[in-house]
Amino acid sequence: MSQLNATLARPHQRYKESFIEAVKEYIREEGSVNWHPEILSTRFDEYLTVMRQAEIEPLAGMVPASCFWLISADQHYLGDVDIRHHLNESLRRYGGHIGYKIRPSERRKGYGTLICRLGIEQARKRQIGDILITCDDDNIGSCRIIEANGGVLRDKIDNGRGVLTRRYWIYAAP
Ligand SMILES: CC(C)(COP(=O)(O)OP(=O)(O)OC[C@H]1O[C@@H](n2cnc3c(N)ncnc32)[C@H](O)[C@@H]1OP(=O)(O)O)[C@@H](O)C(=O)NCCC(=O)NCCS
Repeated sequence: MSQLNATLARPHQRYKESFIEAVKEYIREEGSVNWHPEILSTRFDEYLTVMRQAEIEPLAGMVPASCFWLISADQHYLGDVDIRHHLNESLRRYGGHIGYKIRPSERRKGYGTLICRLGIEQARKRQIGDILITCDDDNIGSCRIIEANGGVLRDKIDNGRGVLTRRYWIYAAP
């Protein structure tokens, strides 16, 4: 995967166009998103501000989280990763320290494995220690990604979602 030429960057105006195209793909896949493309195209600065605030002044019930975008060599958005600075009870059951996604048109090329590795590096920079990553028991791609990045399956728990949640830990070096 190391031959993939993509790096993490902070969300920025320069990636606006490809990000909005990716949001359209997420909508086709998931049906809905928090920020719709029409709103993003006119209020992108506001979106960037909300992302920054999530890091320093999170909404009630949320923990501080840093968002990075995976950017291709030709400066296009490929996916994103959130690094949660610590866990709350909810994240301990579902979500963990790191969450990531790759835009549908760029999947199955190794970017998921790469963004997870780069996310772990960011978590290490923040001295997070042991890192929890969760995924649905039937999310084969994500299970492979976490295991390829050194994740150790601790348990599978029932969060009432119709599928068990796998909890993997990536242990800090002894
Ligand atoms: C899960 C996700 C991040 C995978 O991204 P990706 O770029 O396709 O991942 P990779 O190309 O690095 O694939 C990693 C491995 O999983 C396999 N894989 C990926 N998607 C798969 C799928 N749908 N079914 C079976 N295997 C899959 C790949 O073949 C690869 O296997 P290998 O390491 O044995 O070669 C992407 O599908 C996604 O964004 N899904 C929606 C959000 C999500 O589920 N996030 C994870 C939350 S825990």
